Amino acid sequence: MEKIALITGSKGGIGSAITSQLVKDGYRVIATHSTGKRECAQKWFEVNKFTSDQVRLFELDVTDTQQCAERLRQLLEDEGTVDVVINNAGITKDGVFKKMTAQSWKDVIDTNLNSVFNVTQPLFAPMCEKGGGRVINISSVNGIKGQFGQTNYSAAKAGMIGFTKALAAEGARSGVTVNAVAPGYTMTPMVEMMKPETLDFIKGQIPMGRLAASDEIAKAVSFLISDAGAYITGETLSVNGGLHMQ
Ligand code: CAA
Repeated sequence: MEKIALITGSKGGIGSAITSQLVKDGYRVIATHSTGKRECAQKWFEVNKFTSDQVRLFELDVTDTQQCAERLRQLLEDEGTVDVVINNAGITKDGVFKKMTAQSWKDVIDTNLNSVFNVTQPLFAPMCEKGGGRVINISSVNGIKGQFGQTNYSAAKAGMIGFTKALAAEGARSGVTVNAVAPGYTMTPMVEMMKPETLDFIKGQIPMGRLAASDEIAKAVSFLISDAGAYITGETLSVNGGLHMQ
């Protein structure tokens, strides 16, 4: 039977690569986009030549707890099941802590971490009742090592790792695995926003001497949700070119 995967932040660099990989793997993908981004999502859908059997665009404000509960309940009714949840939506609002506003802190925690609660909670219990499922949280190397100028982002991404381990313990008996993937610096619009000299400095610290390609992150996700990953849970898989080794 066809499996259904939901991914948040699907239009972004890594989200897009994961969506394409999951389509290749035979999943029907529910690709969420934020409020008011329908047109942009439709363009992304067309550029990628997806069909409506392969990808369903789904508006969801991942920062809105009540909306997530209601819309995801409706989604379960429409689709019958969701087998895989990929919490990928994320933003950056970098700045040194001394100058960071409360709003920058809140926005990043809401979008990158509170979203994980909002999206996973309505879908986790049905997965457990069904006796199987996969949750993948897209964390970051900077959630593991901490990054100058990213107290908000590093806190959120580290929070995702703690969440991953705790929920893995709760899901294990029901066959629901929960893992994180921690990308390093990846060729995406998010990284392209950085000052070129800052990015060059960081590239100089990566033993492999290059950024990751988005599809290298997507393949790690694909592995963890495949049958080959069935006995892996509570783990964080780093894909960072050696930038940080644990
Ligand atoms: N360690 C120690 N000191 C550092 C530093 C570092 N890594 N980076 C900068 N500094 C120092 C600078 O040398 C400078 O010192 P002086 O004042 O003595 O000259 C001081 O900190 C201020 O630095 P900036 O001039 O860069 O300050 P700014 O206010 O213009 O910019 C910043 C601050 C926006 C945080 C900028 O430093 C920056 O962009 N840093 C990189 C943050 C980063 O890596 N973001 C990742 C985005 S991509 C992503 O998040 C995806 C993912 O998962 C990997």
